[in-house]
Parts: sequence; structure tokens; C-alpha cells
Amino acid sequence: MQKILVTRKMPPAVEDRLAASYDATFNASDEIMTTEQLLGRADGMDGLLICPSEPLSAETIGKLPDSVKIVVTFSVGHEHVALAAARDKGLVVTNTPDVLNNATADITMLCLLGAARRAHEGETMVRNDQWEGFRTTMLLGTHVSGKPLGIVGMGRIGQAVARRARGFDMKIHYFNRTRLTPDLEAGATYHGDAQSLFSASEFLSINCPSSSETRHLLNADSIGWLPDGAVVVNTARGDIVNDSALIAALKSGKIAAAGLDVYDGEPALNPAYRSLKNTFLMPHLGSATVETRNAMGYCCCDNLDAYFAGKPCPTALT
Ligand code: 8YV
Repeated sequence: MQKILVTRKMPPAVEDRLAASYDATFNASDEIMTTEQLLGRADGMDGLLICPSEPLSAETIGKLPDSVKIVVTFSVGHEHVALAAARDKGLVVTNTPDVLNNATADITMLCLLGAARRAHEGETMVRNDQWEGFRTTMLLGTHVSGKPLGIVGMGRIGQAVARRARGFDMKIHYFNRTRLTPDLEAGATYHGDAQSLFSASEFLSINCPSSSETRHLLNADSIGWLPDGAVVVNTARGDIVNDSALIAALKSGKIAAAGLDVYDGEPALNPAYRSLKNTFLMPHLGSATVETRNAMGYCCCDNLDAYFAGKPCPTALT
């Protein structure tokens, strides 16, 4: 049986499947391991099942024991793994695309509606017994129907967001490295650059991967391109947003509200987000459904099974 180090606690069904096929070392306490601990525990392992909480820089990959042949990450995002270094070392790396498109798109709509309809303020009022009854002017939000939604990154998740937003009668605009084919575009308006998209976006949803190109894509300049009172949603990665710029815009009203599921440096987040009333904040719940987390785990297992059977990995990155 091959030896697999599983760096974080997995859903029970996933641990059961791993235990049935592998000599798997689990992390029952779910404590995040340091790079040194990871390297020590990787000794003698054939494969690693990691999460974004275990960054594998080029240096770390260089130090991985030669016994480790495959790294499967329990995430679609792979910015935490230095893929070029993995390729150089002959290490197979896989991720979990597709299976989390719907769950992440659902959280995007939750954040969009939560921000637009002032869900945080409403819920706080009810929970704190501060609701004094109906008033025609109480907690008025921003209508979503008929409004343009700009999607930054029209990959599989962006497209799933577009499908949902169409159900809310929103008009879809998008900016992507490449224009989609007309059937995938489904009537959405393509913008060849971020400025053009932002200028049209009363609602903006960030759904692109984190990379050196997308770092701080939302910044003081690009916020200036948005219509006044826009609503911004980020369910992708925190570093795509410059926090100080977004916070300043939320304070000035340039941006009416923000719905955030991800944060630069999470689980730490800029404390101003917590104190602002016009934020709707989730703790990175994009893929957090039983069905999706199981599917992500099974996708990791499918990749390990294929690799050790000498077959191509279904979702290989290297
Ligand atoms: C996961 C994610 O919750 O897949 C991703 O890239 O951000 C989330 O779906 C997280 O990565 C857990 O491993």
C-alpha cells in the first residue's frame, strides 16, 4: 500500500475512502503544520494530499523527499504550489476543478445579495432585538434585477455565477483573457480590458485565479472606474483586492457595499471590514457543502488512484 500524508482533517467519507486504499496518515487535530513539520512528515511518503494552508514554494518542493511522487491539492486554486518547480522535479500535481463550481457560485450570489440587501444590518437588528417594526425607509438596499453584473474571470465558476445571475434578471458583462465561444457566452457582453468592464459594472464579481497579474486588480485606480455606489463581491482570493483601497471606497460611499468570502492573509482580515456596516462577510465558505467537499476529496482520490495505477491523472496540473 502506498503511503499518503493527508495534511488536514478530511470529511469522514473521504478519510474512509483514503484509508481503504492507502496507508494514509491523517491529521485528526487538524492543526496546520509548518513547512518544517510537513517536510519531516513527508519522509517516506509516496504522495501528499494538501490544502492551500500548506504552501509549497519552489524551495520547499526542492526539499521534498524523493519518495514523494505526487501532490494532490484539495482545492481548485493552486497559487500555493510552485508548479514550475514541481515540473522540474518530475512531481505530479493535481487540483480539484469543476466539482466546486456550483457551490462557489451559490456563495457568490449569497455575498452579492447579502451586500446589496444589507443582510448583515438586518440580521444584526433581528438578533439584537432592535427591530421596532415596519418602516418604509428601513434598511433600503440596492435592487439587483435589471442591473449589469461584471464578472472578472469567466472560467467555470464565473460561468456558473452568470447562469445564476441571469435568473435574477441581471445583465452579464465579463472580462477574461480570452473571449468565450458564443454558446458559452450566452449573450454576455465581452470586455477586452478591466477598465471597460469596471465602467459598466454596477455590480462586480471577482472570480479569477490569484496570480501576479491579478494581484490588487481592485485598487484605488480601478475602483475609480466603477460607477458610483457599485457593489463588489470577492469569492476568489483575497490578494486580488487592495484592502485599504476597498475600505476607503466603502467608507466614502464610492462603493455602496461589499460581499466578501476571502481575505488577503486570511483567516486574519483587515479589522475595518468588521466594523463597517456595508460589508457582508463569510469565512471562506465557497466550497463548504457536504456534497462539494466530498466531491473534492474523491477527486483527490481519483488522481491518486490513477497515478498509482500508472494512468494519467484526471485533473493534472503538471
Ligand atoms: C477550498 C478554495 O475551501 O478550492 C479552492 O481553491 O478556495 C476552496 O474551495 C479551500 O481551498 C480548501 O482546501
